[in-house]
Amino acid sequence: MSIVIPIGSGKGGVGKTVFTANLGILLAASGKKTILIDLDLGGSNLHTCLGIKNRNTGISSLINKQENSLENLLFETEIDNLFFIPGDTLSPGTGNLPFFTKQKIIKQINSLDADFILLDLGAGSTYNTVDFFLVSPYGIVFTSPETTSVLNAYSFIKTSVFRMLFRSFKAKSFEREIIHNFVNTKLEGSGRSFTADLIQELTAHSYLSGQAAAEKIKEFHPWVIVNRVENSESIELGLKLKDVTRKNIGIDLEFLGPLPEDKDVQLSIFRRSPVVLTSPSCPFTRELSVIADKLASGEVLPQPKLYLDEDDLLKIDE
Ligand SMILES: Nc1ncnc2c1ncn2[C@@H]1O[C@H](COP(=O)(O)OP(=O)(O)O)[C@@H](O)[C@H]1O
Ligand SMILES: [Mg+2]
Repeated sequence: MSIVIPIGSGKGGVGKTVFTANLGILLAASGKKTILIDLDLGGSNLHTCLGIKNRNTGISSLINKQENSLENLLFETEIDNLFFIPGDTLSPGTGNLPFFTKQKIIKQINSLDADFILLDLGAGSTYNTVDFFLVSPYGIVFTSPETTSVLNAYSFIKTSVFRMLFRSFKAKSFEREIIHNFVNTKLEGSGRSFTADLIQELTAHSYLSGQAAAEKIKEFHPWVIVNRVENSESIELGLKLKDVTRKNIGIDLEFLGPLPEDKDVQLSIFRRSPVVLTSPSCPFTRELSVIADKLASGEVLPQPKLYLDEDDLLKIDE
């Protein structure tokens, strides 16, 4: 089964697209079949970071109903094992994604055949973006060390958690109404985490619903990458994000690694050629390779939970 990694951020311009393109190349180079999908609709530029002239229709032809299958939009790049689905640069103005198209894309992403599928998302916490982020449990939240970017990353995570809980209950359910009202009335700073308060409200309605929500939250561990790191203060800002998220939202973030500020990255954009190819030993490429190795070896991927209870043991002994 493919490992789908959506890459989101609260603020734009923090390096998601540079990361997606170059990580994709490194994963492909390590022998993993990798598909990159440009889902920054209205602002697609993954082809530029890959150094590809975009002549293929992409997601826009699904939106315009000229095409029905995501797989048909896949094309082979010049790099072995690397495949690409462009966004909507050839038909701009498709930034507004109709609900059924979004559903169709989400369903079809999960049935593509690859080792890794990386989703380059647009910035911000709109439900369209957040729904793509929730396609898989392996999402990465990207941020730069600027305070505004970290605050926006926090908002993105918060919106994702509530959206995940909302979508885990059926349409028109009472639980959805509770979550909807909670999100619209709850203010920060009550002292307890939001999710603890929300679980309490859900539990008051139904013990099982409260339990189901608590379980979902426990399993939600988005990864975080702080990009353009220049000094230890940048790392501290990242740790602050981890603390605030645990305290206010009640979830644990996992850091996948910092990426350094590196002038070779800007130079590579200027040359329209991916930095891992133009500067294979610059600091950015070196640190990105550590992340790619971690992913390719399966070292950091959360394992599905296995329960072992007494019944199972009895059956083994028999
Ligand atoms: N680690 C880095 N070092 C230096 N410049 C960077 C780095 N990461 C990103 N950039 C710069 O930031 C710009 C925006 O990056 P991009 O990937 O397009 O952001 P996003 O996709 O999040 O909007 C790039 O064009 C590049 O110039
Ligand atoms: Mg981008």
